[in-house]
Formats: sequence, structure tokens, C-alpha cells
Amino acid sequence: MSKVLRSVVTGVGGYLPDEIVTNEALAKVVDTSDEWIRERTGIRQRHRAAPDQAVSDLAVEAARRALAAAGKTPADIDLIIVATTTPDLTFPAVATIVQRKLGCPVGIAFDVQAVCSGFVYALSTADGFVARGRSKCALVIGAETMTRLMDWTDRGTCVLFGDGAGAFVVEPGEGEGAISDRGLLGFALRADGTKQDLLYVDGGVSTNGLVGHLRMQGNQVFRHAVVNISEAVVAAAADAGIAVSDVDWFIPHQANQRILEGVAKRLGIDETKVVSTVAIHANTSAASIPLAMATAIEDGRIQPGQLVLVEAMGGGLTWGACVIRL
Ligand code: UT7
Repeated sequence: MSKVLRSVVTGVGGYLPDEIVTNEALAKVVDTSDEWIRERTGIRQRHRAAPDQAVSDLAVEAARRALAAAGKTPADIDLIIVATTTPDLTFPAVATIVQRKLGCPVGIAFDVQAVCSGFVYALSTADGFVARGRSKCALVIGAETMTRLMDWTDRGTCVLFGDGAGAFVVEPGEGEGAISDRGLLGFALRADGTKQDLLYVDGGVSTNGLVGHLRMQGNQVFRHAVVNISEAVVAAAADAGIAVSDVDWFIPHQANQRILEGVAKRLGIDETKVVSTVAIHANTSAASIPLAMATAIEDGRIQPGQLVLVEAMGGGLTWGACVIRL
């Protein structure tokens, strides 16, 4: 079989800000309860960035850990893609701020905005550079300060989200074009702009000039999530040439434990293969997949060479999935 260039994930890192906000703490500021939040979402706590921490600060910490895991330094990086919906500034891109703060050389740096699906979109974008020989060492980061988009009087949304960042180092590697290759093996990306009203932020530069607050018709998003995500997961598996049952680990977007379980059940994935961090991280939007990956690598569950299927869904609506052999 002829050789193919693959985009190989060589290092993973996650960062969570120090402050932990429990459900009980939230029940003091909004009409909710620990019991309701746990029962309906599985969430027990979330992390919140300090007032002087911007999203680039979280991204830089996650990137440093991913670089260390890959045995790389900032000098090696020629491409930075940050998936975020909560940038430091309207411009420049968070990726260029990360480039400056890390001290990476002049290269390519830009942001991807696909909300909670942003990390899967960013991975696919990075694959377009790395697997074509146009990047020798890429940083793909998902970083969010979602707590800054919350309306703290809206109990239907403010209890669901948290802050954090996760990063992958992605490097080219020679493969055989087979499913045993290391790397990003298959993708499925989707968007349906007609569903905007189900999940959006009611502010923006070119409309009302405000940052705005997150608005969501939670039960409608929930309904779409299980069906849409399942289709994309099957499509990504087909793109990689594997069956969903072949995967060692399933890392869903960490939005709601009931959605995680619903998708896994629909796909016939055993619950022991599902990585769930929603209880402790809550929904960190574009950061949720790399953070969950970092957690499961750190605790020894995910091992080199294993096949991991990740999926996400968020505002847009956007959704997607990716098959990765580590
Ligand atoms: O990452 C982007 C993707 N986002 C998602 O995947 C989120 C998808 N949606 C969800 O996870 C769920 O729909 C929610 C967790 C947001 C809500 O759960 P639900 O079971 O769909 O509840 P609901 O919205 O239908 O509301 C049920 C009840 C309502 O009260 P009434 O009208 O029955 O009296 C709400 O007012 O629960 C009430 N409620 C709450 N009660 C206590 C809503 N939020 C809260 C709360 N505490 N925080």
C-alpha cells in the first residue's frame, strides 16, 4: 500500500481555572437546586476563570501542557488554531495572542468559530495543513470563558456552563492508508443555520454592539442532539473505514449526561467506553473534548495506539465527529 501523510496527535493538555463553583453556590444566586441540576444534567460543579484571566491565558496553560506531553517547545510551532466563542477581544484572533504569549515564531495563527463544535472543526482544519505537508507542528486549542456569556438570572442556562481549555499538538506522520495508522482518520462536519434560534448569543459587533448573553431552547436542542450527533458519528466512522463498535473510547461533547448516554445507547457503544467529565467540568463548549481527552489520558484510561471517537454539537446549529488513533 502506498504511504500517506497523517495528522498525528502527539501531545494533549488541559487546563481548568482554580475557582470551583458548586451547584449549591449557584442555588444561592438563582432559583435552582443541586438536586435539579444533577438529575437533569449530571453536573455537580464547574470551574470559573479569575477576573484577570482572559481566554488566551487558559489556552496558553493548556498549550504548555500539550507541548510538554509531545516533547515540543513553542519554537517548534508553525500553526495555531484556537476554537473559541469567547475571545479576549473582537480582534486580533486569540490564536495570535497565544502565539505572542507562548513566544512561537512567525507562522500561521487564526481562530475557528463553531461554538461547541469548534474543536472538531479546528481539528479538521488543522488536518488540511498537516496532512498536506503545510505544517510540521500545529497547536489546536479549544478554550472558553463561557461563564462570561451567562445571564445569571436565567436558570435554564447559567447552571450548565463552565470555563477551561484543552490543546492537542498535531504533527505529520507517515501511514499506510490503513485503519491501524496513527492520526486523524475520519471526519464528519455538519451545520444547519436554520436552527439558529435554538441556541445563540443576543449580542454582536455588527448588530447591537454588545457582548450579549447565551440564549437556548434547551429541550429543543436536546431533541436535535441525540439524532444529529448519532448520524455524524456513523458518518465519521465510515469516513475512517471503521465500525463504531471498533472504537476503544468515545468522547462526547460534555453538555449533559443524559445526552451522552442517549447517544452512546443509540450507537450501541458500551457505557464503559464513554469518557464523561460533565459532572466536574460542566459544558466548556469548544474546550470540552480536549479537556475530557486530557483527563482520560492523565488518569491512564486512554493509551497510545487506541482508537478514540469524539463528537460535539452546538450553536449554529453545528455538529460533527472525528475518529482519532492516538
Ligand atoms: O453545548 C450546546 C448544546 N447544549 C445542550 O446540549 C443542552 C441541551 N439541553 C439540555 O441539556 C436540557 O434541555 C436542559 C438541561 C437545558 C433542561 O432540561 P429539560 O429536562 O429539557 O428541562 P426543561 O427546559 O424542559 O425545563 C423543565 C422545568 C421547567 O419548569 P416548568 O416549566 O416545568 O415548571 C424549567 O423552568 O425545569 C425548570 N428549570 C429549572 N429548575 C430548576 C429549568 N432550569 C432549571 C434549573 N433549576 N436550573
